[in-house]
Formats: sequence, structure tokens, C-alpha cells
Amino acid sequence: MSKNIQAIRGMNDILPEQTPLWRYFENGVASLLDGYGYRQIRMPIVEFTELFKRSIGEVTDIVEKEMYTFEDRNGDSLTLRPEGTASCVRAVLEHGISGGGQLQKLWYVGPMFRHERPQKGRYRQFHQIGVEVFNLPGPDIDAELIVLTWRLWGLLGLREAVTLELNSLGSSEARARYREALVEYLSARFEQLDEDSQRRLSSNPLRILDSKSPDTQALLVDAPKLADYLDEESRLHFEGLKARLDAAGVPYVINSKLVRGLDYYGKTVFEWVTDQLGAQGTVCAGGRYDGLVEQLGGKPTPAVGFAMGVERLVLLLETLDKVPAELSRQVDLYFCAFGEAAELAALALAEQLRDALPGMRLAVNAGAGSFKSQLKKADKSGALYALVLGEDELAGRIVGLKPLRADGEQQSVGWDELGERLAACLQA
Ligand code: HAM
Repeated sequence: MSKNIQAIRGMNDILPEQTPLWRYFENGVASLLDGYGYRQIRMPIVEFTELFKRSIGEVTDIVEKEMYTFEDRNGDSLTLRPEGTASCVRAVLEHGISGGGQLQKLWYVGPMFRHERPQKGRYRQFHQIGVEVFNLPGPDIDAELIVLTWRLWGLLGLREAVTLELNSLGSSEARARYREALVEYLSARFEQLDEDSQRRLSSNPLRILDSKSPDTQALLVDAPKLADYLDEESRLHFEGLKARLDAAGVPYVINSKLVRGLDYYGKTVFEWVTDQLGAQGTVCAGGRYDGLVEQLGGKPTPAVGFAMGVERLVLLLETLDKVPAELSRQVDLYFCAFGEAAELAALALAEQLRDALPGMRLAVNAGAGSFKSQLKKADKSGALYALVLGEDELAGRIVGLKPLRADGEQQSVGWDELGERLAACLQA
């Protein structure tokens, strides 16, 4: 017998038990972003490989070892997007919608692909909701992005579980000066660095600040600090951001070692982290990337954004028991009918109820079955009430209304009053 084909490692099915929570989360974020005036953009999942190389950076982990890159039938090198910022910039440039200083506040949702080692909270196909803003250079918009995520954590009941880490990477000149000082300091201690950091010293030395090695971290205690190399403009920008977060009451910690794994950032960078998920604790991350649009061929365009990891936030909601109870309910009502004549009447009545009560969720029993088996299915559906229609009810033009989640007798309701009665029941 041939072996069953399975899903690719690190690429998961989201099963029906999980989709209500996904939709709760995604719809919650979508309506929050609507409320702040952001508009959705949808980009393709595949782009030319060159786009990611030129934006994320040739010597980043993502581009060096994590991209799903393949040759198209006509010989083009294509890549499944590892993130959304590059595609979003490509799209606004291509359609000329960020030129001439046009304000754009955009968001997107969808799968991203990175060939990482799968573990809890880290997958090869994962989902992000990202936000990108073009043509606002000041710290006010950086603050708005952070404030709106803070509001989201409030709506989801996650505020206690997340911490905002904040840093400024300064201008590219300031970073270059700092890089020189850091390389000088670490070169003198080369032998004490872990292997990865030794390699990074020549390719991407700032990433050494992120090293997980305790020995390397110990070395960094006395290393030059990025904050001491900040240019005046970046310093003022950072002060402006902190003042706004203070005014809005958003708590944060400064993490001077926060550098992020993508090359396009300058000035503000931030991460929302949690200690509730083990090693993969960053649930939302972003920053300013004022140079990227120009780097990809556009006019100089200030830009800032972030992306959150849907899997990690869903996991966090589950871990902290913040899943609303009603999500386990598939339907509000379950219609049981016994005998063919009752089935026909139930079908017609159900359609009338759908007209009368939009938003109500009603399952009509299919596949017939005994009273006991239909009620069992009604119970399993999570419905609040079963509607019961047998020969007697049919003759009397009534329906039995049986509460499934609370005590109480089955009651008879006339067909004409059913809509009104159910509206009242479901509101209570
Ligand atoms: P990132 O830090 O690479 O940034 O990813 C953002 C978030 O996506 C992470 O904080 C995490 O929650 C989630 N994530 C990343 N990789 C995985 C994975 N393998 N499995 C599960 N979740 C993952 C970006 O992608 C930038 N484009 C963010 C941005 C937008 N910056 C400016 N605008």
C-alpha cells in the first residue's frame, strides 16, 4: 500500500476547531485598523527573488538561508515571500501611489514562508498581519502604530503578557560609525566570540548584539553602545516617540541591543515580546525604513511599519485562556425534524428564519435520524436551543423550542411567532 502524503514540515493545516479563534483575531485586527483609517492591500505571494535580496539584505539569515526560491518555467528566479514589507513597497512604487508625498496607511494579512527550523511558535509557512505607512517622517506616526497595537492587546486581554522593547538605530551614517567602533572592539576579542558571531563580524556585525551565546553577551557588556553614536535628528525623533508613548500611557523598555534581522531599518525599531511562549516570544515587530523606497528605485519616501505573527498571538490567547467562550459554539440553533413532511416544513421555516434574523446561525439537521440522535447532534453543535418539529408539531403549526444550555422545559411556539420569539431568546 502506498504511503499517505502528508503536509510539508512546518506548514500546518488550520483545523475547524481553530478557525473560529483565527477569525476572531483577524477580524478584530481588521476592524481596529479600519477604525484608525488604514486600508487593506493584497499583494501576490510570489515575487522576483531580487526584490527580497535588495530590500531585506543579502547577508541576513532570511536571504542567506531561509527563502523558498525556485526557477520559474521561463527561467526567472522567484521566491515565496518571507515577509510583506518588500512586496508592499514594490506595489506602492509600481502603482505610483506613494509618489509626490502621497500619504498611504496600508495593511495586509497572509501567509509568509521561511525555511527555519520548526518549533513551537516558529513555522515554515506562517501568517502575518502587517501595517505600512508611507510619507510621514515624524515620530507621531511611529507612536500611532505602537498605540494601536497597545489598544489591540487591550481588546484581546493580552496587555499583562506583553512588553514593548524599543530602540533607535539612528541614521545610516551614525550606524556606520557605530559599526566601525563595534568591529574594532570585537575584533580585539575575536577568539572569545561564538562561531556565528565570528562570521557576522565581517558580514553583519550589528547582528552580533542579538547573539544567543552567553559568552558573547558577556563580551558585549563593555562594548560601545549604539545610543552613544546616535545623530541629533534620530535622537530627537526617539525623544519625540518616547514622549508620545508616555503621554498615551504605553509602557516600554529601552533595549539598546535590539537591532532586528532585516537590513532596511533606521531610527525607530520595536518589538512586542512575551515570556509566555518559550523561545519564540516576539509577537509583533517593526520599525522605520526611510531608505527602502529609494533603494528599490523610488523617490526618497519616509516609511514605517510592523508585522505581527498570527500563530504566536493565537497561541498566546490559548495559553492565557483568553479565548471567548462563545467561539466554541458553531451555531445558535439546531433544527431537528422527524419524517419527510416535517423535514420539508423545517426547510421552509429555516429559510424564513434566515430572512427574519440575519446574523443568526442555524443548522438544519441533515441525514434524518431518531429523536435521540438528532438531539445529540444538536448538543454537539454547541447550539443554545434545539427546534423540534415532528408529526404533532406539524399538525399544530408549532415548533418545540428546547433549551440545550440551561434548565427549562421544551416550549411550543407557533410558526408565526417563531422569529420574534427566537430574536428575544438569542438576545438574552
Ligand atoms: P519579522 O520580525 O521578521 O519582521 O516578523 C514579524 C513577526 O512575524 C515576528 O515578530 C513573529 O511574530 C512573526 N514571525 C516571523 N517569523 C516567523 C515564523 N517562522 N513562524 C511564526 N511567526 C513568525 C518582518 O517581517 C517585517 N516585515 C515587519 C515590518 C513591517 N517592519 C516594517 N514593516
